[in-house]
Amino acid sequence: MPLPQSFLDELIYRCDIVEVISRYVSLKKSGSGYVGLCPFHNEKTPSFSVSGDKQFFHCFGCGEGGNVITFIMKEENLPFMDAVKMLADMYGMTVPEDDGDTDAARRRRERLLSLNKEAARFFHSCLTAAEGREALEYLLGRGLSKKTIISFGLGYAPADWDRLSSAMLKKGYTKYELEEAWLARKNRSGGIYDAFRDRVMFPIIDIRGNVIACGGRVMKGDGPKYLNSGDTPVFNKSRNLFAMNFAKKTKSGRMILAEGYMDVIALHQAGFDYAVASLGTALTADQCKLMSRYVKEAVICYDSDNAGQKAAQKAIDLLNSAGMEVKVLHIPGAKDPDEFIKKNGREAFALLLDKPQSDSEYRLAVIKSKYALDIDAQKIEYLKAAANYIATVSSPVEREILSHMVAQETGVAAASMAAEVKRAFISGARREKKKTESEAMRPVRNIQPKENSLRYQNPRSAVCEEKLLSIILEDSDLLHKAGEMISPQEFSSEYLARIFEKALAMEQSEHEIRPAAVMAGLEDAEARHLTAILSEKVPSHDPLAEMTDYIRVIKAEKAKDNSQGDDRLKEILSRKREREG
Ligand code: CTP
Ligand code: MN
Repeated sequence: MPLPQSFLDELIYRCDIVEVISRYVSLKKSGSGYVGLCPFHNEKTPSFSVSGDKQFFHCFGCGEGGNVITFIMKEENLPFMDAVKMLADMYGMTVPEDDGDTDAARRRRERLLSLNKEAARFFHSCLTAAEGREALEYLLGRGLSKKTIISFGLGYAPADWDRLSSAMLKKGYTKYELEEAWLARKNRSGGIYDAFRDRVMFPIIDIRGNVIACGGRVMKGDGPKYLNSGDTPVFNKSRNLFAMNFAKKTKSGRMILAEGYMDVIALHQAGFDYAVASLGTALTADQCKLMSRYVKEAVICYDSDNAGQKAAQKAIDLLNSAGMEVKVLHIPGAKDPDEFIKKNGREAFALLLDKPQSDSEYRLAVIKSKYALDIDAQKIEYLKAAANYIATVSSPVEREILSHMVAQETGVAAASMAAEVKRAFISGARREKKKTESEAMRPVRNIQPKENSLRYQNPRSAVCEEKLLSIILEDSDLLHKAGEMISPQEFSSEYLARIFEKALAMEQSEHEIRPAAVMAGLEDAEARHLTAILSEKVPSHDPLAEMTDYIRVIKAEKAKDNSQGDDRLKEILSRKREREG
């Protein structure tokens, strides 16, 4: 049912546009109206004007304009009806009944929402009181600033059984309401006790700014690490996302999807204010739909453990089904985004976000972010540090690529960089020598096959294809598994794909794999190259994991080739080819 025009007129009349916009934009009087910096595009000189007489706004820069409702819809990223409700709330008006809600049901929901808000306030006040000292120290100790703690409204639930309950009962809420809001639980004798005790509290806020539930984390001792409200009349955990109230305002066009509350908060604090997380459960289709209302792209940034990677696979499908573009961030050297940012800083994370990179490129980027390259002395330090790192990379082709990359970005001659890496490689090797014969010490073959007809287009992928073959040509079980995970068409090298295809066919018909038989049908040069691959094989502790890694890279490379083509890599390779004639 559309809202009556008389109500809208009254709303627009009462919600003075200058006053409303002033909450978001700092306005200065100018002529008969006001001007400020436009919130809808980036600008340094004000071209955003607000007219109190006409009750509208207009930006001469980007062309946005409208009345107070349009403004709230844009600024808060809300649908029309929600914007109207928000304004009505601000100015104490009641929106005429617009849905099937009965008065009673609506009043009940409103009571629960205000109870939740009061509870969050109570928890927050406990955090800043003496009894919350340990909790506050815990949060500060995890690297959160006071400002972050306040903007997320974090709190502390005292250790006693009834502190929240009795405070809320005093305010006139009932036991039944406390239990219904999942803030208290019933005991055997019919009384209630606080659901959250001695935990740091994370309020969950919906897109309209209502506190709808909360989660609590233990600081020490036993009990589940996180405890979350169950569903209530105002909270459906499969339809909400943590921090969506902030993230929905993003102008970045994307959202980062993390696993945990702390990840999201750390991301926001580091300036990535478009991070969200599901609420202690796996991602749902409804949550994907919610995200897709605001942005086109999702960047999955789950924990780097197995569970996280598995969950990421599922999330990709769900997000795709919701019509979103999906990127997956692999977090090198840390358990989760929170830990990564603490270790490497925000710039390093920004690098991860903006460039899909290989592990070693990530690491190099992290090293680079620590130097100011416009200062010569620091540039030299960076070159040394980079060379030291590159020397530890076991794949010769990867070393070559990285070393070219560094040379290029610092304007150093490729040959000098190569010499630096060689120096680091040799001194590193000397150090290693006593310990063990490391893979890096082994004589390395030039990755490119000798025959020109066999030159690899994508050496990064080809290296992995070679290694993958070296594993599966010796183990029919793994070969079978590989066949389920990747198809020959996904290989970058036609020649290696052919070998894979032959091996698969043999496994299927004979249930075993004989490398020599696979070799039989190959050209001489191809067979020679294959023997080189097989003879370089290093025994592996966990061939399945290794194989999975190779497959992941091959697929990622394929995706890259399909989408943009790795221009830089191509350039490096064509130069390399030129050099080699
Ligand atoms: N979670 C939960 N119940 C648990 C453990 C986890 O609901 N017993 C949910 C929480 O939403 C948590 C997320 O799963 O934020 C991720 O859990 P986990 O990776 O174990 O924790 P972190 O987010 O790394 O939390 P912290 O850094 O605080 O240890
Ligand atoms: Mn964590």
